[in-house]
Amino acid sequence: MIPEKLIQELKAIAGPEQVLTAAEDRWTYAFDATDLDHMPDAVVFPGSAAEISRILVLANAHRFPVVPRGAGTGRSGGAVPIQGGVVLVLTRLNRILEINTKDLVAVVEPGVILGRLKAAVEEKGLYYPPDPASAEFCTIGGNVAECAGGAVAVQYGVTRDYVLGLEVVLPTGEIIEAGTRTMKGVVGYDLTRLFLGSEGTLGVITRITLRLVAKPVARQTLAAAFKTLQAAGEAVSLILASGLAPTALEFLDQVTLGCVREMLPFKVPAGAGALLLIAVDGHPRDVEERAARIARFCEEQCARPVLRAKTPAEAEELWKARKVVSPSLKKVKPQKVSEDVVVPLGAIPELIAALAKISRRRGLIIPCYGHAGDGNIHVNILYDRNLAAEREAVGATVEDIFVLVRRLQGTLSGEHGIGLTKAPYLGLELSPGAIALQKRLKAAFDPNNIMNPGKVFPAT
Ligand code: LAC
Ligand code: ZN
Repeated sequence: MIPEKLIQELKAIAGPEQVLTAAEDRWTYAFDATDLDHMPDAVVFPGSAAEISRILVLANAHRFPVVPRGAGTGRSGGAVPIQGGVVLVLTRLNRILEINTKDLVAVVEPGVILGRLKAAVEEKGLYYPPDPASAEFCTIGGNVAECAGGAVAVQYGVTRDYVLGLEVVLPTGEIIEAGTRTMKGVVGYDLTRLFLGSEGTLGVITRITLRLVAKPVARQTLAAAFKTLQAAGEAVSLILASGLAPTALEFLDQVTLGCVREMLPFKVPAGAGALLLIAVDGHPRDVEERAARIARFCEEQCARPVLRAKTPAEAEELWKARKVVSPSLKKVKPQKVSEDVVVPLGAIPELIAALAKISRRRGLIIPCYGHAGDGNIHVNILYDRNLAAEREAVGATVEDIFVLVRRLQGTLSGEHGIGLTKAPYLGLELSPGAIALQKRLKAAFDPNNIMNPGKVFPAT
């Protein structure tokens, strides 16, 4: 526990009303979107980088953990204060400082809700592409800390591809700037990228300079139902190689489709084994032509029916259904482990076939859906913690899946990060030498290991 004397010091820094210590308040900040939780000793809502710097200096002097957090929508336990200490909630730093239509940049604080930022940028005729499923309630700081992805990464890339510069409070209290406001920049090491996906272990991000692009003039959305998941998986590589350049290429398997079926703006036949959701951005005529060709292409691959959203509202409904797939899986089983593995595009059919075998062998339902267009597949292990056989099979199932993904030359995480849930498996992907180097980097930033301890690296 953090002694009362230090709580008083935290109150002196952030203001007494910005420090919570009642059990019910601390509980509110004990978890994220996983099924994991751990109580922090205190919750602090800092109002500036200067306050954060003083809090980190205090944490170093007295060796208590500090866990930065936005909206807590993370799916790998990154914001769970597993060793107690202070949860630093960044939601008060929620200003959009600038949207510059000449430089095509936005400068924002980390607590800005992504959906609010996207809307503000679009009002000015520009576009900030990354669009994770939690866009309406996650924060941009969390997006940077985890390098969030989402559906339109096929065309536009992920958060990493839009962060030009950062202001960061280092674990030892110095406030530094990394990166640029320019489109290019190679001065010194690329510290900006080092912070991208660093999961709150290297510092607290307090300002973000983002690259913006022109708003696409038109977008069309299609849905194609396939008899089998295998057939849908095979169509993915063909569509990507066809030159039709989809903006998003998502899939739902039969179980995930069942969870959101009634939200879809049209009827999907009960026998459908998979649904592909496809978006195409560009100029109206070009979009029209590419969408029509993709529809024909899917029909040639025996998809029935292939439907095109007739209005933006209908397209919106489709993407809304897609965005709630993850939470809606709780309709099937009360607990789930959500993975976000990525495999080379050609390996998707093999991954799907092998997952079906693992599911049968371990006796667990393993629905899949997600970002087929970039090989980032959400593999979900569903279980009921009150059923011993299911509960006890989960660990081995996760390991089976990660071993499989590595055999296919894939990666353990495309967009959710390692956090707590995947830390034990880091060695399946990184060599001992690479892990040792990463640990030396961590120590160079955070000599006393106060920033989000217990994350990323396997426990020793
Ligand atoms: C999704 C989240 C879980 O794509 O990443 O639904
Ligand atoms: Zn996703």
